[in-house]
Amino acid sequence: MSQQLFCAASIVIFGGTGDLASRKLLPALCRLHDAGLLTHDFHVFVTGRADMSTEAFLEHLMQREAVLFKKDTRFASGFNELKSRIRYLRANPSLANEPEDFKQRLLAAEPLAAPARLFYLAVPPSSMQSFISLIRPFSEANTDMHCPERILVEKPFGQNLASARELNQQLLESFKENQILRIDHYLGKEAVQNILFMRFANTFFEPVWNNHFIDNIQISFSENIGIGGRAEYFDQTGILRDVVQNHLLQVLSMVAMEPPLSHKPGDLHLEKNKVLKAIRKYRPEDIQAETIRAQYVAGEVDKKPVVGYLSEDGVRADSKTETYSACRVFVDNWRWGGVPFYLQAGKRLERNITEIVVSFKPLPYSIFKDFNGKIEANRLHIRIQPHEGIILKVNSKPPGMELQVSDVGMRFSYDNEFGDYRPDAYERLLLDALNGDSALFLSNSEIEESWKFIDPIIDAWHGGGQPMFTYKAGSQGPEEAGALLAKNGHYWHQPVI
Ligand code: BG6
Repeated sequence: MSQQLFCAASIVIFGGTGDLASRKLLPALCRLHDAGLLTHDFHVFVTGRADMSTEAFLEHLMQREAVLFKKDTRFASGFNELKSRIRYLRANPSLANEPEDFKQRLLAAEPLAAPARLFYLAVPPSSMQSFISLIRPFSEANTDMHCPERILVEKPFGQNLASARELNQQLLESFKENQILRIDHYLGKEAVQNILFMRFANTFFEPVWNNHFIDNIQISFSENIGIGGRAEYFDQTGILRDVVQNHLLQVLSMVAMEPPLSHKPGDLHLEKNKVLKAIRKYRPEDIQAETIRAQYVAGEVDKKPVVGYLSEDGVRADSKTETYSACRVFVDNWRWGGVPFYLQAGKRLERNITEIVVSFKPLPYSIFKDFNGKIEANRLHIRIQPHEGIILKVNSKPPGMELQVSDVGMRFSYDNEFGDYRPDAYERLLLDALNGDSALFLSNSEIEESWKFIDPIIDAWHGGGQPMFTYKAGSQGPEEAGALLAKNGHYWHQPVI
């Protein structure tokens, strides 16, 4: 089976009544349809545990996404055309005979005899295995006459290394590796894809992209939103597993990877995997010094008072789940030996922003000692969102008779260069999945290597002894996060836009 020959005629979404499906997946499919990128008779099957008519489902979707529908014209116009080909089906793994029953109902609803299907498992890790039982009967029908299904698995892939391995094993019992797509939606973001173009479509970054010139790299993910209606999921997960294990380690692997042989899936996976494998795994005794965890307490966001994490609906009053984490990471290889990568992620912080800051080494010697102003080390700010762009901070002489030095920014802004069109990450990734292109999806070994880094941290945190710091909602995070960098003479860089 070749990657390129797959072209899905339909998608079947498990977890179709959930937040992800209504906020991201269905709008993305509608926009793809609006752009003429789906096959002309493409069908969408949305599933949920309850019995419900398609009409009731669509009405519910419209009510829930009314605001988005109103302001997103591509979603609205795509929806109006696609809605006659959206169908709701019950899929409840706790009912006896549901696997065979669901299969018959789906076959009866499909207009084609042997369509190429994409199954999307948009369900929490705890119920992933039971939903796999619903798609297993389809694998038994695979013959030479039938184009085998693709299975797209939403993150997080497992809750730790052991459960990720078990999940992978389960999938491989019924499906082949090239049928499985493991998603991390950060890889579908324009500015994340652009890391590869910035590094490998230009010559001048490569000679300085190593431990001779780079002092440290910071990757910061900050959200001002809290946990919304996702308390049950988040309280079992925490920000380290929710965001760092996947999004931030993937971004790190793209920043740190060696030049791949091509943009093809195998070559990209190979190089990212090498980085993840080279990440130093902490010994239990190092974890307290190398990591920080914290929870938000009541504060103000956008000038409105908000409650602390422990008072959020659905959160256990004695919860030890972190809403902020920071850690120092080393990639132990020839290129990066000795360069700290600082990762931080948090909910209910001051701003919504994801940014990479590459800090270059300070000057070896300054001839401008008598000048006013401080010579800052050069920095490259790669803004992932919002206001995507790249800013290189360089030192310059401001015009005038007085000899001064100040750092200025050389800017590339997506808005100025390309306007405001930015496809949503799920649009990119759904289109790739429907066409069988796995370059922007994760290999199983990348996921396993990431868990090998995360698991010892979680174990040590749960083992006790690690302080749980606090920070005010709407602030820049716990004060203690600064100490993690200060011991190396570093500090968190503020975004420059
Ligand atoms: C998801 C996490 O994977 O990413 C969420 O589960 C987080 O907690 C979200 O809010 C952030 O994605 P984005 O695209 O809004 O940056």
